[in-house]
Amino acid sequence: MAIREIITAPDPRLKQVSKPVERVDDDLRRLMDDMLETMYAAPGIGLAAIQIGVPKQVIVMDLAREGEEPQPRYFVNPEILWTSDELSTYEEGCLSVPELYEEVDRPSRCRVRFLDYQGEIRELDCEGMLATCIQHEMDHLNGVLFIDHLSKLKRSMMLKKLAKAKKLQEKEFA
Ligand code: NI
Repeated sequence: MAIREIITAPDPRLKQVSKPVERVDDDLRRLMDDMLETMYAAPGIGLAAIQIGVPKQVIVMDLAREGEEPQPRYFVNPEILWTSDELSTYEEGCLSVPELYEEVDRPSRCRVRFLDYQGEIRELDCEGMLATCIQHEMDHLNGVLFIDHLSKLKRSMMLKKLAKAKKLQEKEFA
């Protein structure tokens, strides 16, 4: 397993639309293992493959709380089958939008179909954090970040902050 570099916004790669995976094989499982290790090291609770520059429809997630056993989840080629009309609001963050958090409204429940780590087809009813997280990660597969759900003004303010932080970082390492 290896920790990969996480791409941060603004970066055109994060706007790419990810392609479906043809086969869940050992190569793909290696990618999922790397993604999980990268996510744990960050630390974060969800990661889409495009965030490490791989435009494939793959997501890893672990919503276990501190002190609980790890609960890694893998979603390959996820599809949303249903979403509730009812919305929930969560303060979201993203490993590709470091240190910025903002409230986002999303359907509070959804049903997802996907392939698991072994390539088996599964369906899952999601609510609470899981529903929010899977929708956030699936947005990444369509080149969408949580800041794209905010008002134009808020989004441009956040993008400015991100660009500034990036410049500072480049200077530090120059
Ligand atoms: Ni994210």
